[in-house]
Amino acid sequence: MAAAESPGEGRMMEKIVSLCRRRGFLFQSSEIYGGMNGCWDYGPLGVELKRNVKDAWWRDMISAHDDISVLAGAPAAFEMVGLDSTILMHPQVWKCSGHYDLFHDMMVDCRESKKRYRFDQIRGRWVEAKGRRAFVAVIADADAEQEVAHARAMKFFNLRGKDADKLVWDGEFISLEDVGEVEEVLAPDAKTLGSLTEPREFNLMFQTNIGAVVDVESTAFLRPETAQGIFCNFKNVVDSSRVQIPFGIAQIGKSFRNEITPRNFTFRVREFEQMEMEFFCHPSQSSEWYRFWRDRRMAWYQAHGLSGEHLIMREHAEDELSHYSTGTADIEYAFPFLPPGSFGELEGIAHRGDFDLRSHSEGKLDPNSNPLVVELGENGKPKYKGSGKDLSYRDPVSNERFIPHVIEPAAGADRAALAFLCEAYCEDEAPDDSGKLQSRTVLRFHPRLAPTKVAVLPLVKKDGMPEYAQGLYRELKKEFPVFYDEKSAVGRRYRRQDEIGTPFCVTIDGETLSDGTVTIRDRDTMEQRRVKPDEVVEIVRRAMRT
Ligand code: GAP
Repeated sequence: MAAAESPGEGRMMEKIVSLCRRRGFLFQSSEIYGGMNGCWDYGPLGVELKRNVKDAWWRDMISAHDDISVLAGAPAAFEMVGLDSTILMHPQVWKCSGHYDLFHDMMVDCRESKKRYRFDQIRGRWVEAKGRRAFVAVIADADAEQEVAHARAMKFFNLRGKDADKLVWDGEFISLEDVGEVEEVLAPDAKTLGSLTEPREFNLMFQTNIGAVVDVESTAFLRPETAQGIFCNFKNVVDSSRVQIPFGIAQIGKSFRNEITPRNFTFRVREFEQMEMEFFCHPSQSSEWYRFWRDRRMAWYQAHGLSGEHLIMREHAEDELSHYSTGTADIEYAFPFLPPGSFGELEGIAHRGDFDLRSHSEGKLDPNSNPLVVELGENGKPKYKGSGKDLSYRDPVSNERFIPHVIEPAAGADRAALAFLCEAYCEDEAPDDSGKLQSRTVLRFHPRLAPTKVAVLPLVKKDGMPEYAQGLYRELKKEFPVFYDEKSAVGRRYRRQDEIGTPFCVTIDGETLSDGTVTIRDRDTMEQRRVKPDEVVEIVRRAMRT
């Protein structure tokens, strides 16, 4: 059997994108109108995959959480509850969270092409020809950078194919941030040098207006994170439920960021779903809880199939920490569109201290974080200030009153789904109907995440096989998503299911009608064995649990 191709090799990302479109995992938003940059729609299989990711998270972290036992590595037993807060919130929320003043990227504009880029995402390489020197900037995947830069340099220096050796490249690809001479930069879509502006700040929140009148007073923002809905409801949850510290509030929902350069498929998009948890604890225990959540979240990805070398945990250096954080670890994955050895963030686990509750209460920030510039209203009083509500917590046993510390494991459902897709993608060989080895593409999803769990296939369309298969299909469908397929040779039908990651195929053949057994085929090992039809549900359930 040929060695399976793994992420980071070849043009794997292109193949994954193409499979996603062809088989209905993902489509570009508004495609019939030419598409909408930074927005993706999930097709029939993609929506099942993402829903399975979110359901697995919700179940493992909230609904199936054991409130009374002390979990391995945890300092104590704890409770978990859920929440679903609104996307539109009072604008003051974003002032006190820091997003209004601090949530920005540095961007540069191109005066020639009128395009805007994220400063840290432009890379390029120095090149000389015909006595001139230029920094050829590109925005391209790592494996295509040199090809794109070469084509641009040839055009810029007006060279023909046979003169390619006149280009003298100097050094490796570097970030535009490390280039001093802006006037020698050939911007990614420009024909002349020096068309980029100096970097400027650009707030990433989408702005809108509430009500009929469009003015400053009606300004609102689409939430850039789900977390703030949790902080704003902290007191409501404590007062209305029996939760006691330590406990966590979790929510899944859409967030919006006006990313300057959305890219890499669904990795960086403008509309995405987050799976966030705010875990409230006593300040004296917060470091222990931080370590617990960091390790627990890493183990969750591993349990769902993200393997060792592609998955790492990285502690942030001090100068990398967000304005609110006193410690953050990122769980990162080696996405195939990144340069070899590079990783992209899947989830951040942040120790946020008491920043959020204090800020929403008092309107002032942790002394360790950057100060907010509070805008003054016409009456000279601060326009944005804290809620003035007491968001402290009184321990019912010790009577101690304190502002809880928060540990925040913040994950992205789209990035997680993309990582599971990339990890699952594999090319190997499988025998066709005549026993000859043919190449096959297979998505080796964890059965829990696979969009379809079982395919039911009558071997031929006669002798009562379709009728038997349809009966079994209807029974299985009561338990999980099942696919029925009676078209074409059975080997091709297996391949179609392998390509969308269906863990099991159940085939109804001549023996089924005589001895009441069916063949169950395992997607990964391709082993086939005969079982009773009523064993199928348990076999699938067991695989989903492992
Ligand atoms: N409340 C903290 C917070 O929002 P974050 O690191 O900015 O932290 C958390 O976001 C997660 O949300 C990220 O790890 C990532 O998985 C996802 N995410 C953030 N921005 C995204 C984007 N533009 N596109 C897709 N996912 C994104």
